[in-house]
Amino acid sequence: MSQKAVLVTGGAGYIGSHTVIELLEAGREVVVYDNLTNASYEAVRRIEKITGKKPIFYKADILDKKALLEVFSRHSIGSVIHFAGLKAVGESTQIPLDYYYNNITGTIILLQAMKEANVKNIVFSSSATVYGEPPIIPIPETCPTDAKSPYGRTKLFVEHVIRDLCTAEKDWNAALLRYFNPAGAHPSGILGENPTGIPNNLMPYFAQVAIGKRECLSVFGNDYPTRDGTCIRDYIHVVDLAQGHLAALKKLEEKPGCVEYNLGTGIGSTVLEMVKAFNKAVGRELPYKITDRRPGDVPNLTADPTKANKELGWKVKFTLDEACASLWKWQSENPDGLEGYPSEAPAECVLDYLH
Ligand code: NAD
Ligand code: UFG
Repeated sequence: MSQKAVLVTGGAGYIGSHTVIELLEAGREVVVYDNLTNASYEAVRRIEKITGKKPIFYKADILDKKALLEVFSRHSIGSVIHFAGLKAVGESTQIPLDYYYNNITGTIILLQAMKEANVKNIVFSSSATVYGEPPIIPIPETCPTDAKSPYGRTKLFVEHVIRDLCTAEKDWNAALLRYFNPAGAHPSGILGENPTGIPNNLMPYFAQVAIGKRECLSVFGNDYPTRDGTCIRDYIHVVDLAQGHLAALKKLEEKPGCVEYNLGTGIGSTVLEMVKAFNKAVGRELPYKITDRRPGDVPNLTADPTKANKELGWKVKFTLDEACASLWKWQSENPDGLEGYPSEAPAECVLDYLH
């Protein structure tokens, strides 16, 4: 299995593109499969610029079973890392049907195509959001799950689908990776998160304040039961997160059935601590103001990563300061992200049987 190619759905996106870099640098053959709804083809060019290797790329949809089967027939694929999905918590409350269709139906179609192609190893992008408001901090994988948004419920439901499949058919293996808060960019400054419109997340928003695109950071609430009243999250360098996927792929070779892992650092930081850390990276005090709480936020999501540390032999290597420094390098060297570069994929990469 190990030397077959890895299909990376959503591989042009933020976490996916960083994972593709690590896979290519580890000598793996990679097939990227992304419909580019939230990514630019320029990310694929940047992957090549960093690694010196051109990943095989398809612009195609996970809802398109024919396209999936076509890709499985063209390449010898041993496993799938499945990042493709819609990911904005707030937006998921406005357009829940789109979220359920894309994330759940899309994954079921992917699993059906994998089954037909006899590819039965999957690494799935789950999320710390499946824990809801957890009663235990730091959070172990055994903590009860209770997703609070349509987005979170898509992650939880897909976890159930994959677990049920592995129970029913013993030749399937799956790693359900519950990510905490990815932060930072590739240390080269060549690739990073490329949010479209106004960023929803703390660090990309703050980075846009730093380059003068946004006036001021709003800190959503300072009356939470935490050390300074602002919410605590576990920010993990995106390259460490990417490395976690390589470790999970290796784990699948041991045929573990279905396993869940928290990918986090085990260290929680408040929003105000993040302000301080990013100010340090930028070298000046950036403006922020305290505003009302954002509906749906929970006070503390900090991982207990012990299981991943032990069973995957994986540990984070980067510090929070390094995550902030890489974010600032990426943002200051690419003030408009990937905007302004040709975003469309070459015609020969497009597979579309849906339209
Ligand atoms: P992203 O939006 O940058 O990447 C997702 C990619 O999937 C995009 O490139 C998009 O074009 C593609 N895509 C979406 N729907 C598709 C479809 N139907 N067919 C083919 N491609 C499709 O997001 P990200 O931050 O890199 O997140 C990757 C995964 O990790 C997502 O599943 C997300 O829910 C999950 N996750 C993200 C975070 C986070 O904070 N970024 C945290 C926990 C979990
Ligand atoms: N925050 C602000 N101001 C902002 C944005 C965020 O104060 O402009 C605060 C939030 O209130 C929260 C913290 O910063 O306390 C982090 O917020 P993010 O939006 O960056 O991240 P979330 O923890 O809300 O959610 C992210 C992803 C989810 C994922 C989750 C896993 O968006 O998809 O991490 O922990 F599930």
